[in-house]
Amino acid sequence: MPSLEPAKPSPWVARFLPLVKPGGRVLDLTAGSGRHCRLLREAGFKVTAVDRHIAPLIEAYGGDPDIKIVEMDLETGEPWKLGSAWDGIVVTNYLHRPLLAAIRDALAWEGLVIYETFAEGNERFGKPSNPDFLLAPGELATVFGPPFTIVAFEQGVVETPRPAAIQRIAARKGPVGRLVG
Ligand SMILES: C[S@@+](CC[C@H](N)C(=O)[O-])C[C@H]1O[C@@H](n2cnc3c(N)ncnc32)[C@H](O)[C@@H]1O
Repeated sequence: MPSLEPAKPSPWVARFLPLVKPGGRVLDLTAGSGRHCRLLREAGFKVTAVDRHIAPLIEAYGGDPDIKIVEMDLETGEPWKLGSAWDGIVVTNYLHRPLLAAIRDALAWEGLVIYETFAEGNERFGKPSNPDFLLAPGELATVFGPPFTIVAFEQGVVETPRPAAIQRIAARKGPVGRLVG
């Protein structure tokens, strides 16, 4: 019988979430099924979940006062309309390079970006295989260079939840701050 359990949150997101300002505003960009929304809300953040397909989000979180759901196509070339001064921005399994500069700009000073997605080399495991959707070596570390401080950066092959080449970063906009633990 198929499992109806929602997909598990990324351990990378869960690990660095405590570095976001307590009670802060967090943007879950391309939230998908909302696997990070519950985690964010339970950690005490005010969540805005954005996706172009929001039916799963409405089903899971419609009416939840702590989770605002925004239906938006992020690739239509419209200017960034999601506001600024976010305390945290979470992006997983999605890449649209023209948005990267907007993500940098939209963070508050001392805001944290937590980003994890597929990287070059993923072609041998399946999709995505289009280079437009695969990060180049070190790309996130370059994008979130100064004035960001990189808290953690990894790139390589993972086995779970399935074999994939990925890259991930947690970076704070501003000087060195506290760490987890
Ligand atoms: C692979 S899923 C990842 C979902 C979620 N971040 C996660 O890791 O569970 C990619 C998501 O990006 C959304 N998406 C793709 N293109 C988009 C666009 N142009 N604007 C907004 N959302 C988009 C899809 O609807 C889908 O929910």
